[in-house]
Amino acid sequence: MGSRRYSFVSGLRCSRCRREADYHTPQTVCTFCGATLFAEYDIGSLAERLSKDSLSNRVHSMWRYHELLPVKDPRHVVTLGEGMTPVLKSVDGRLAPLVSELLVKDDGLMPTGTFKARGMSCAISRGVELGLRDYGLASAGNAGGAAAMYAARAGVKVHVFVPKDAPVMNLAEMESSGADVIRVEGLIDKAGVLASNESKEKGWFNLSTMKEPYRVEGKKTMGLEISEQLGWTLPDIIIYPTGGGTGLVGMWKAFNELEEMGWIGSNRPRMVAVQAEGCQPVVRAFESGAEEASPFPNPKTIASGLRVPAPFASEQILKVIRESRGCAIAVQDSEILSSMRRFHRTGVFVCPEGAATLAALDKLSSDHWLDRNERVLLYNTGNCYKYGEYLTH
Ligand SMILES: Cc1ncc(COP(=O)(O)O)c(C=O)c1O
Ligand SMILES: [Zn+2]
Repeated sequence: MGSRRYSFVSGLRCSRCRREADYHTPQTVCTFCGATLFAEYDIGSLAERLSKDSLSNRVHSMWRYHELLPVKDPRHVVTLGEGMTPVLKSVDGRLAPLVSELLVKDDGLMPTGTFKARGMSCAISRGVELGLRDYGLASAGNAGGAAAMYAARAGVKVHVFVPKDAPVMNLAEMESSGADVIRVEGLIDKAGVLASNESKEKGWFNLSTMKEPYRVEGKKTMGLEISEQLGWTLPDIIIYPTGGGTGLVGMWKAFNELEEMGWIGSNRPRMVAVQAEGCQPVVRAFESGAEEASPFPNPKTIASGLRVPAPFASEQILKVIRESRGCAIAVQDSEILSSMRRFHRTGVFVCPEGAATLAALDKLSSDHWLDRNERVLLYNTGNCYKYGEYLTH
């Protein structure tokens, strides 16, 4: 690296009204319009100082991309070795006979067992840098588990509002690592209101999805890794299980920044958001041409991470899907379960949310939405070890 600057972050800007916010103090959402704030980087200077080749002997974690992450001082990084998970090539046609090149990015190998570690490593690191000691958060389960572990690693406190029927392992990991767990009668939307009110009242920093600027920066590393691991080319299609949408929005932000760096060209993957039939607010909005999702009534699915009836950042999610010429598609729980078994029988121990991507691929293939020669990447967001209860009955 030709510079000693650890991060090239230059400030925060609203994703909707484009007004700036102060990077040097804790920020939640835009104070003018209430939308998510995004970090911006001094990409021009970075492109002059950093070459692709210089990445090769760096730490084998997402912090290898520290110039494009928002933490200024490496001493504040809270890490458990997250990132640089494998991109598995499908070795035969068993998973998708109609696709000639199938890839699986496997975040089942992350600390805390899911991709949520990326966002929490980044957000809690930046929180530590800002001197924050207490964090509030609403979670379907996995985000709370990751927040709890990273808070434990940093020696700070996290207060997690979680539906009381969240997977057993999520509740166990939070409690075991010393988080303050508040079990909510209801779903993530209700947990979100409680997390927001309590955080305001008690002075905790609200880490809920897209309500602060830094988790999405950690999720951005999913896109950075895919690009680097595929030799700075991108797949034609990325299929992603979408709940709150941070992953989808984060990957797109990564591709924009890499293009600005001149490290990739303008060809982009078509981004596919998969949801469960029992909770498909983004699919409904996509199909009706709406710019934002309406709350989905009586949400129900075994893929707990997809049980997000009113994603706060639906406007951003829909923008990414449309800009990429992708689509949003719903799959049934029975299809999720059978796809999970199919995956497991090829040695990849995907979680239900990850399995939903294969069920979606089946549908898109039979609808001829994709061409046989297109390179498809399925994103597995977590490890099935966290969902033991789905396998034992
Ligand atoms: C395993 C898993 N996959 C996918 C998701 C959805 O993630 P996103 O907020 O990026 O849409 C979640 C969210 O809880 C999850 O736990
Ligand atoms: Zn704004």
